[in-house]
Amino acid sequence: MKRNEFFSAIGISAGMIFMAPVLSSCSKGLTDTTTNPGGGGNTGAVDFTLDLTSPTYAALNSNGGSIVKDNIIVARTSAGVYVALTSICTHQQYNPIAFESAANRFHCPNHGSNFGVDGSVINGPATSALKKYNVQLTGTNLRIYA
Ligand code: FES
Repeated sequence: MKRNEFFSAIGISAGMIFMAPVLSSCSKGLTDTTTNPGGGGNTGAVDFTLDLTSPTYAALNSNGGSIVKDNIIVARTSAGVYVALTSICTHQQYNPIAFESAANRFHCPNHGSNFGVDGSVINGPATSALKKYNVQLTGTNLRIYA
């Protein structure tokens, strides 16, 4: 029996054989829940650490500074307290919302919703709070986790 006759007999085409590794890698991407940790409705685990000595996160070394990473906005309030919330607005999922240090709140520029540093709604149109994450500062490492 020739190779193509064998595969034909068991119902596998040559194309399926060559596509197997491609399909396998695609399925890995679909099941990875850590690539969009702050995303709306995403139940993936959130746990990452920011090195505050890195120029990338230099804004967090001053009160009022903020950064966005992986759909999470991390801010240092005017009182010097770190907070981390989803950066995706609960109204119509605008991303990212912004931290307004003068008002000590988070603001969505899309329709004007404002949120407190605890994620609660100050004014709509949003009616649901932003998800808040835990923060832990150890030396110059700021851990963000669920
Ligand atoms: S999307 Fe944020 S207020 Fe509408």
